[in-house]
Amino acid sequence: MTNKLKYFIANWKMYGDLKSIKSLNKVIKFAKSFKNTSFKMVYCPPFTLMHPLSIKLKKTKISLGAQNCHTSSEYGAFTGSVNAKMIKNLGAKFVILGHSENRIAGETDNIIKKKILSAVKENLIVIFCIGETNLQKRQKKTFQVLRKQILSCLKGIKKNTKIIVAYEPVWSIGTGNIPKNSDIDKNINFIKKILKKNINFKNPKVLYGGSVSSKNIRIIDKVKSIDGYLIGGASQNEKKLIDIVKKTYN
Ligand code: PGA
Repeated sequence: MTNKLKYFIANWKMYGDLKSIKSLNKVIKFAKSFKNTSFKMVYCPPFTLMHPLSIKLKKTKISLGAQNCHTSSEYGAFTGSVNAKMIKNLGAKFVILGHSENRIAGETDNIIKKKILSAVKENLIVIFCIGETNLQKRQKKTFQVLRKQILSCLKGIKKNTKIIVAYEPVWSIGTGNIPKNSDIDKNINFIKKILKKNINFKNPKVLYGGSVSSKNIRIIDKVKSIDGYLIGGASQNEKKLIDIVKKTYN
């Protein structure tokens, strides 16, 4: 049984309604009773569910996070947007930024950089997503891509800022395909090296994300460089999510 602190970030994406909140009961109970306390669980629901979840998660061991935020942390005339200040105001501590689903929809490194700076200003912990596409992998450009994403998005970030990187190969998200353990390890170690050397992070934390499930977690978790998981599909099912945590520790 490991005592290393591991993160389990539930990314609900654009799923969930008021009824889904009930599914948290089992997870809250589990988190309270689980003997190994070296895990940190964070729920990132869609914005519509952040307020009810903030109430539900009060006085529990589970934290709340958002899935995105605006580039400006000030209030302003930006229809349809939510900023880091508003997220913080709900009691959330985390925000996912740079997710490939948003990059595909047009989010550039420059926009992501501004979002990260606004979230950091509000003292939110950023889960910063990076990862290569299938084509980039085939062209053997993975290191180049990861390096560029880190350097362009974290420019101007001071050392020891609260940023957790999530390594998410784009081709693995929602597909059921996962990289070989040796590739995950190689890429995570590369990311940690860049964070230490170029961003001056002392003890960088890097999560793995992409098709993590209760079926493959025992295999993936053999990779010692992983500091936790960003979980999409499987996080919407309380039993599967609990199973993932349990199997990580036993
Ligand atoms: P997945 O999503 O677990 O459904 O592959 C992960 C993510 O997009 O963060």
